[in-house]
Amino acid sequence: MEDVIVGLDIGTTKTCAVIGFMGESGTAEVAGVGIAPSRGLKNGVIVNIDSTISSIIKAVEDAELMAGTEIGNVLVSITGQHLKGENSKGVVAVSNRNRTITHSEIRRVIEAAQAVVIPADREILHVLSKEFTVDDQIGIKDPVGMSGVRLEAEVHIITGSASSINNLSKALVGAGLQCSDILFSPLASAEAVLSADEKELGVALVDIGGGTTDIVIYLDGGVTYSSVLSIGGIHVTNDISIGLRTPQDSAEVIKKKYGCAVLDLVDASETIEVPSVGDRAPRRQYRQELTQIIEPRMIEMMEMIDHELLKSGKKDLLAAGVVITGGGSMLDGTVEAAERVFNLPVRTGLCRDITGLKDVVASPQYSNAVGLLKYGVRAGRFNTKIKARKNNFSSFGQSLKRWIEEYL
Ligand SMILES: Nc1ncnc2c1ncn2[C@@H]1O[C@H](COP(=O)(O)OP(=O)(O)OP(=O)(O)O)[C@@H](O)[C@H]1O
Ligand SMILES: [Mg+2]
Repeated sequence: MEDVIVGLDIGTTKTCAVIGFMGESGTAEVAGVGIAPSRGLKNGVIVNIDSTISSIIKAVEDAELMAGTEIGNVLVSITGQHLKGENSKGVVAVSNRNRTITHSEIRRVIEAAQAVVIPADREILHVLSKEFTVDDQIGIKDPVGMSGVRLEAEVHIITGSASSINNLSKALVGAGLQCSDILFSPLASAEAVLSADEKELGVALVDIGGGTTDIVIYLDGGVTYSSVLSIGGIHVTNDISIGLRTPQDSAEVIKKKYGCAVLDLVDASETIEVPSVGDRAPRRQYRQELTQIIEPRMIEMMEMIDHELLKSGKKDLLAAGVVITGGGSMLDGTVEAAERVFNLPVRTGLCRDITGLKDVVASPQYSNAVGLLKYGVRAGRFNTKIKARKNNFSSFGQSLKRWIEEYL
C-alpha cells in the first residue's frame, strides 16, 4: 500500500501508532493501531532514548500487524515545556506591476513575520498564519488576488529546543523510521477532535496527558495562543498512591475504576476495595475518601489551565468553550471540574470524521495519533518508502523545515 499514512504519538505514558490511508471522499480510514507503554519520557520530553526506541518499535509493529502492511515513514508529534508559542507580525509592500497580491507576496510577508530573534539553541517548528491586513482592511483570510499596496500578516510562531527535537530524531532513527512531518502535539489533537466551526467561533483545546497538558487556542479559524504545562494524570496517580498508601500500579487501577474529580458527584455511602502495600490484606474505604485526594489536584490542574486561558487575553472570546481530550480527560467528573473553574462550556473531544477501525480509537487517549493521521491525509504526506525501516534514515532536518503552513 503506497498511500499509507502513520501517526506516531510518543507520550509520557504510552506510545501509540495509528496506520491509515485516505478513504473514499477523502476521509482518514484507520487500518491498524498499536500501543506500548512508554518508559523513556518525562513530562513529554525524551530522557532515555533506548527505552523510547523500544516502545516505538513495539507500537509500530503491533499497528503493522493489525493493518497487514509494513511502514517506513511516520508523522510524529512533539510536546514538552520547551515548546513556546508567540505571535508576530510582518509587513511588505505589494510592489508588482498591477499591485495584486499573489502567493509570492504571501510568502514574503510570512518570511518577514518570522524575522524574530530565535536563540541558537531553538528551532522554528511552525509558522501558522492567522490573518492578513491589506491596506486598512483587517481580518482577511485569503488575500490572494486582492489589490493593495501594503500587506500585513499576523502569525503564530512555535519554537522548540533543538536538543529535544534532536533526541526525537535519534529515537526515530533508532527505530528505523523516517519522519515525514513533525507537529506540535496539541495541533494534532485539535485536528482530530475540533470542528471548523469551533475554530472559527473561538475554542480552547486542552490535551490532558500523563505528564503534560497541552493547550492551543483558536480564534477566527487560526491559532492565537499555545502553551504546555508539566502536569497530567501521573500526578493524580501519585497523590492516590501516597494518600491511600498503595503501590503506583494499584493507584492507577483504582483511579481508572473509581476515581472522580468532583466530590459531590460521589455517593457518600459508596465503598471501594484498596489493595495494601506488602502482605497486608486489602481494605475497604469510602469512595469519597479517594475523591478527597483527587479533587484538589484536579482543581489545581484546572486553575493552571485557566491561568493560561486568561494569559492568552482571549478567554472572553471563546464562544465554543473548551474541548478537553487526552487520557487524563477520561477521569470521571473532569468535565464538571473544568466547567466549575473555567466558567465556560466544556466537552470531551473524541476523534471525528474518520472511518475504518473507528471504534478501536474511540477513546480520547488516541486523539493525538489519529490527529496526525488526519493531518497526513489532508496534507498528502503519504508513505514514500515501504520497508524504509531497513534503510538509513534520511535527514531529519530536511523534514523539519520552516513551515509556512497552509494546512493547519
Ligand atoms: N479511564 C481513565 N480514567 C482516568 N484516567 C485515565 C483513564 N485512562 C487513562 N487515564 C490517564 O491518562 C493518562 C495518560 O493519558 P495519555 O495517554 O493521553 O498520555 P500520554 O500521551 O502518554 O502523555 P503526555 O501527553 O503527557 O506525554 C494517564 O495518567 C492515565 O492514568
Ligand atoms: Mg499525549
